[in-house]
Amino acid sequence: MSNKQKDSLFIKAAFSLPTERPPIWMMRQAGRFMKEYWEIKNKYSFLEMCKTPEIAADVTMLPVNLLGVDAAILFSDILVTAEAMGGDLSFTQGVGPRFANPVRLKQDVERLTTDVSEKLQYVPEAIKVIQQRLDGSIPLIGFAGAPFTVMSYLVEGGSSKDFKLTKLMIHNQPELAHQLLNKIADVTITYLNMQIEAGVNAVQLFDSWALALSWDDYREFAHQYNVRILAGLNRKDIPVISFCKGSSVFASMMAEAKPDVISVDWNADLLDIKKMLPAGIAVQGNLDPHILYADKKVIRERILKLHERMKGENGFIFNLGHGIMPDIPFDHVKYAVDVIKNELTNT
Ligand code: CP3
Repeated sequence: MSNKQKDSLFIKAAFSLPTERPPIWMMRQAGRFMKEYWEIKNKYSFLEMCKTPEIAADVTMLPVNLLGVDAAILFSDILVTAEAMGGDLSFTQGVGPRFANPVRLKQDVERLTTDVSEKLQYVPEAIKVIQQRLDGSIPLIGFAGAPFTVMSYLVEGGSSKDFKLTKLMIHNQPELAHQLLNKIADVTITYLNMQIEAGVNAVQLFDSWALALSWDDYREFAHQYNVRILAGLNRKDIPVISFCKGSSVFASMMAEAKPDVISVDWNADLLDIKKMLPAGIAVQGNLDPHILYADKKVIRERILKLHERMKGENGFIFNLGHGIMPDIPFDHVKYAVDVIKNELTNT
């Protein structure tokens, strides 16, 4: 990590150190709301983009150059681990991710491999290209999907509204579910350590769909694996961010896994969550992404209101409660970043 990256607003805030203003980056900051993304996407499939280091680097750099965010995030997807394990993954416009060979029976789980390092080599290669492009300027965030969320895609065969099959496996065949979750957790540890070794400056674990689970099921089928993953990382001086939709409910349990940062959805009051957490855990969030559809006047008001609440707190990273939607106007996103960078101060 360069000295500039180490002293950046993002790394300092992630370690709960004082910063002159909160750093800003946004989940899904490189994507379809940018016409420059489409110029690349029209030429390649999404998986080709992820698997070609130069292209993944080009896309990673779009929000750095066009929005001026304070951190870059590797351009990839949480489902690349599941693909490397043997999932037959495709992304279709309007449909989203699909696995042609869903994992539902014992033999499906057994056929998945945990020997993934070679298949995922395109990721450390991309990280090295991205770090050359960043040239020490701002930190690079790596990431992976958490076992429960990745499992849900493998079991359902794609996106789901109610996670019916996943929850059925958890409830009727808990041993099979644990076998699957254990395999994904092993792969996730390998994969995140590969990213750290290749030079990312932070990692985020996405447990996007944890909100589907009850408190007890979250502990048994999501949280315990996230604890194991965080304990298995070669963290060195690298902050770890834990995200789930449902963090306003699960934040206290998530803290037991000892992340440096908890990324909070928009249902909770961010300061209330921060005060409830043990000292030294930073928070990230938590603007409702729908605010970015609204008029600029409203966007500015809501940003200032959130900042007023968090002002003077060490350990606050400005972000959305979830990812940017593809039809949010680019100039609204840019406006939000500008307001945060130009108008917020912690003094
Ligand atoms: O944040 C970033 O800019 C980094 C890149 C990134 C992508 N996906 C790119 C992407 C990250 C961090 C992700 C994580 C991801 N992927 C999550 C967790 C975050 C979250 O939103 O909760 C999840 C659940 C996925 C699974 C996934 N990948 C879905 C459901 C989809 C389809 C989304 C849709 O709206 O159609 C994807 C595809 C995907 N991942 C795209 C991008 C830019 C769109 C691909 C395209 O251009 O067609």
